[in-house]
Amino acid sequence: MLRPNLMCLLRTLQLTHGWRPPMSNYVKINFDGAWKKDSHLAGLGVVARDATGLFCGGLVTPFHCNLALVAEVATSLCAFKFAMNHNFTDIILETDSKILVEGVRGGEKNGVWAIQPFLDEFKKISVCFRYVLWS
Ligand SMILES: *[C@@H]1O[C@H](CO)[C@@H](O)[C@H](O)[C@H]1NC(C)=O
Repeated sequence: MLRPNLMCLLRTLQLTHGWRPPMSNYVKINFDGAWKKDSHLAGLGVVARDATGLFCGGLVTPFHCNLALVAEVATSLCAFKFAMNHNFTDIILETDSKILVEGVRGGEKNGVWAIQPFLDEFKKISVCFRYVLWS
């Protein structure tokens, strides 16, 4: 049922991030984006798993992007929307992106202007969840 590239992504995320299960009731969302400077072509993958490690859905999709930073943040926005569309209520978003976590936590004051529209979007989507944690 899983597409082969999704299986591959799942395995990669597990290996590189030392995946740990979330607390019970939470769904952990892992995501990763890759981006090529010359082609502006980016790809992103999202994997959701519950506390028992059960796969709860995922996606892999290409997209276009001209800024690595934006690709990173766009990937997390996609992961966030994915979680919303799956009606998850309590989620943990796991990312290595410091700029994103600081942006989401710190609000307006660490203005990296390029990601501000994404942060605004995050704020809007956040109301769809009961708990959103970043790790
Ligand atoms: C999420 O909830 C909406 C509204 O209740 C429903 O229409 C939709 O099918 C649900 N989606 C999933 C993936 O369960």
